[in-house]
Amino acid sequence: MKVVFLNPTGITGGAEAVLLDSMFSLRTNFPEVSLELVLGSDGPLRLKAAELGVQTHVVPLPSSIAKLGDSGVGARSSRLALPGKLAIAIPGAALYVRKLRSLLKSSRPDVLHSNGFKMHILAGLARPQSSALVWHIHDYVSSRTVMRALMRRYAAGCDAAIANSDSVAADIRAVLGGSIPVHTVLNGIDLQRFSPQGPHLDLDRLSGLPPAFAGTVRVGLVGTLAWWKGHRVFLDALAKLSSTTPMRGYVIGGPIYRTVGSQNTLNELASYAKNLDLEGKVGFTGFLEDVPAGLRSLDIVVHASTQPEPFGLVIVEGMAVGKAVISSNTGGAAELVQDGIDALTHVSGDSEDLALRISQLISDASLRATLGAHGRKTAESRFDRRNLAKRLLPIYQHAVSSRSAHTARQQR
Ligand code: GLC
Repeated sequence: MKVVFLNPTGITGGAEAVLLDSMFSLRTNFPEVSLELVLGSDGPLRLKAAELGVQTHVVPLPSSIAKLGDSGVGARSSRLALPGKLAIAIPGAALYVRKLRSLLKSSRPDVLHSNGFKMHILAGLARPQSSALVWHIHDYVSSRTVMRALMRRYAAGCDAAIANSDSVAADIRAVLGGSIPVHTVLNGIDLQRFSPQGPHLDLDRLSGLPPAFAGTVRVGLVGTLAWWKGHRVFLDALAKLSSTTPMRGYVIGGPIYRTVGSQNTLNELASYAKNLDLEGKVGFTGFLEDVPAGLRSLDIVVHASTQPEPFGLVIVEGMAVGKAVISSNTGGAAELVQDGIDALTHVSGDSEDLALRISQLISDASLRATLGAHGRKTAESRFDRRNLAKRLLPIYQHAVSSRSAHTARQQR
């Protein structure tokens, strides 16, 4: 069997980490399956895939398409309205589909595994007739006006959808109305890389702050700067703690998206913190290459997304390194943890509630340790990347048979 993965970018965000872990798992469990990767832009993902022995191709997405997305719609005004942006993107898309089609024609995959909304549609248009198409969906479809319409329109060319949580699966079923089979495959992570033992980082130095006093409890929000990741709720919660609380907060992560209007900037967040009198109490490290070391250097890992989180890799990563995690309680994130056993949860978007959980954990080191130990166990039993291939392969096989049945019907 040959599987060609398609991803809109070479930058490694959450969906790309899962793509790499899926390729790793397929490589190690089923070395006879041949894997290729097509990227819409070059970046670290290409090298990481090549290290796994995956053949890679870069077919650059025109910037009119790369910048298109509706995750940021509603967040802020962008200079051009969506219909205008779409009109600019369409001619570029037609050319792109031609290039992709010719690459796929010579590669002749049994399965196309697309990751990311733009690639779901482009892969559907460029797909060789005999290749099955599997959409790996990492985000809620219903919240994206344009993508929702496009995915409905092109669902007939897709043979199966994979969702990263039951919550996302339910959303896909609601949008696509049962036209394609939808399977939940919970993400897996590298439990060796995300292990409790390993290097730490000097988060104070990385944030340009003087060393914190001994006994300071370090509380961090780790993630991209997407506007819905709840940085402001996190900062609001820290500002609600009593000024004598022995804590320091950290915002770990940097802007990674090209989609206009989809993210905060570090400057905006720093001035927000300053207005809350948090200067010196919160550090901004920017993007960290070594996320496990960053997580290990914290005592409490906060996930504060204000919208339902489709999955929330950082929740599982924080548990895997044995830290006390506070997660928001909606969407796929709620499926990952058991409140009070392997993590605490707070009401999404409610800084008052988050402040209560943070202060409960700051004052209770033994609760932090218990949650951390149970969190590691949960990560080992439910989120081991080595198990991904066993879930993926039957989905591919099923998609291949349904595609060949479909092609046979059309030829009759
Ligand atoms: C997307 C989702 C996030 C998930 C990641 C990996 O980035 O927004 O919740 O963890 O994909 O599936």
